[in-house]
Amino acid sequence: MSDALILTETHGDGERRTALIRLNRPKQLNALNDALMDQLGAALLAFDRDDAIGCIVITGSDKAFAAGADISAMAKFDYMQVHRDDFITRNWETLLQVRKPVIAAVAGFALGGGCELAMMCDLLIAADNARFGQPEIKIGIIPGAGGTQRLPRAVGKAKAMDLVLTGRLMDVQEAERAGLVSRIVAADKLLDETLAVAAVICALSGPSVALAKACINKAFEGGLRDGIDYERRVFHSLFATEDQKEGMDAFLGKRAPAFKQR
Ligand code: HXC
Repeated sequence: MSDALILTETHGDGERRTALIRLNRPKQLNALNDALMDQLGAALLAFDRDDAIGCIVITGSDKAFAAGADISAMAKFDYMQVHRDDFITRNWETLLQVRKPVIAAVAGFALGGGCELAMMCDLLIAADNARFGQPEIKIGIIPGAGGTQRLPRAVGKAKAMDLVLTGRLMDVQEAERAGLVSRIVAADKLLDETLAVAAVICALSGPSVALAKACINKAFEGGLRDGIDYERRVFHSLFATEDQKEGMDAFLGKRAPAFKQR
């Protein structure tokens, strides 16, 4: 029996291959916890250092890329703990250190931290059953892994406000129209199509690909750090509210939350 929270394999027959990382908590719809993010970060850095790898793909299951940060873990957190442990900043953003292209291959739910993880990737290829959202507001917090900053950059302020303030989900057509998704493919072809895109990238010049990625990220992420730092302080502070406790308890208890507005 394996307790691997991610599974890795390589694909392709060229000089440089594609690394495929599968998030592997299927029973929890790949809800993201610190242990998984530690393993994901270590794998990403190892593949980034490996000269035989030209591109990295992150995927989930047919049902979920990732349904968010693990609410059962977060339900126990309080302000001092998330502040002291530097929750998210400590180990959830390792992906941003990777110089090779990283493609998110998304089927099913990409919610909360799952949507934020996909938005940290460079290309987002989505199955026709993919659904995106930042529903954190429904459990008394806000997006805390870059969502309040990257979502408006990707889809514009109006749609980002709509999604973040109501917590509604967006289907893949809306997500593609809005600019969040690079390509939509049939669900049963998601990996084949994504690996084909990755193979194209693997055959190109690695240095120019890495530098092109860096330049586009400069355009996309300029001024972002201030926004993220601000977001993180606000995110941590929400663990001091009663409504965070109530929102998460209600989810885990499979009941509607009774928010107290404090
Ligand atoms: C912990 C989760 C989970 C999550 C699902 N599960 N999402 N556990 N954290 N984020 C668990 C359920 O409790 C359930 O466990 C099992 O996975 C299957 O989920 P169901 O709800 O039974 O499936 P379904 O009815 O198909 O509904 C799917 C769903 C729903 C719509 C995705 O699970 C859902 O709303 N999940 C929460 C989505 C969410 O709020 N994400 C944002 C989290 S906050 P059992 O044991 O009952 O089988 C966040 C913070 C980001 O991401 C900022 C920091 C990173």
